Amino acid sequence: MSSVTISDLSLSFGPVKVLKDLNLEVNEGEFVVLLGPSGCGKSTLLNCIAGLLDVSAGQIFIDGKNVTWDEPKDRGIGMVFQSYALYPQMSVEKNLSFGLRVAGLPKHEVHERVSRAAEILQIQSLLKRKPAALSGGQRQRVAIGRALVRDVNVFLFDEPLSNLDAKLRTDLRVELKRLHQRLGNTMIYVTHDQIEALTLADRIAIMKDGLIQQLDTPHGVYNNPTNRFVAGFIGSPGMNFLNGTLENGLENGSNNEKDQWNFATPDLRIPLNGYAFKQAPVAGQPVEIGIRPENIVLGEAVASAAVQLTVDTEIVEPMGADTVLWTNIAGNNLTIRTDSESDVKPGDKLSVGINPSRASLFAQNGDRL
Ligand SMILES: Nc1ncnc2c1ncn2[C@@H]1O[C@H](COP(=O)(O)OP(=O)(O)OP(=O)(O)O)[C@@H](O)[C@H]1O
Ligand SMILES: [Mg+2]
Repeated sequence: MSSVTISDLSLSFGPVKVLKDLNLEVNEGEFVVLLGPSGCGKSTLLNCIAGLLDVSAGQIFIDGKNVTWDEPKDRGIGMVFQSYALYPQMSVEKNLSFGLRVAGLPKHEVHERVSRAAEILQIQSLLKRKPAALSGGQRQRVAIGRALVRDVNVFLFDEPLSNLDAKLRTDLRVELKRLHQRLGNTMIYVTHDQIEALTLADRIAIMKDGLIQQLDTPHGVYNNPTNRFVAGFIGSPGMNFLNGTLENGLENGSNNEKDQWNFATPDLRIPLNGYAFKQAPVAGQPVEIGIRPENIVLGEAVASAAVQLTVDTEIVEPMGADTVLWTNIAGNNLTIRTDSESDVKPGDKLSVGINPSRASLFAQNGDRL
């Protein structure tokens, strides 16, 4: 049984349709990340699940129960927002226990739940402090703690780390992952940070214009993007795209196997050996090939690659653990990720290799071929 089911959900603000017949199934205990560009409807979807927005059409089920028109407090969810919104005049302990006291829980139970959340989040030593005396990361932990004490099955997070500096984000990200592994709750987490999405998610839902483009594992969205949008959105530096046409081996005389397909431009030809076509290829069809920067090899690996090319190096960017080369081939930009030991310099002509089995092909309408 799935823990959260969204069925044909639509939501409009006035004449603007923000969510369009959206469907999503989140399994029990699963960590699903909603990822997409600003304004695509991530927060809107999360707020619908939380019950903070009335839907225009469609249904929402939590743990099998239709909660579409239930009050937020009756949905069995805990929510953490981007801004911590703690009560400034209350201590951390009071902030954590406030909702429980309002709900009339017995004192010992309130105490038990607050202690447990404080222990999980490692904030026991901060319980007597006021929010003003906490760092950003500590405040955000308290905010997570407020959701935690509610003892719910489903947690909703809306960019909980985006107000924090880079180091703290990384630390808290790991803690969130640990928290999920320990508690096993269902989590739906909104971000526009792809690293957060790739590292935290069991599955990522990539959204654009109020629709889910792909719901898949981090490995799936990265290596088998379902369309050109997903391919270009995930990955940094981004995937390389080249425009060309599909060519059948029989026609260009390069060999006589009719299953031999090539990607061709006036200046280069890439045999597509080992590429798993999702749709039947058509000779002459205009296509775009997408190649990840790390799937272009240098040095000794070039000889054993399926395709060898020569590129002109324009810019060398050392990134610490690796180095990014911005190169050019026949007027097309080609970004290459290589190890930090490489001694390539701007102006170098480089021999590089490509293994097309790891590439992606897209038809003109953007769908994966
Ligand atoms: N209360 C509102 N009234 C009218 N339009 C709204 C309202 N709230 C959001 N919108 C619009 O709905 C669309 C989706 O907004 P939403 O906040 O869900 O985006 P998002 O994906 O969370 O973006 P971000 O990454 O910037 O937070 C946007 O175009 C936004 O301008
Ligand atoms: Mg948002």
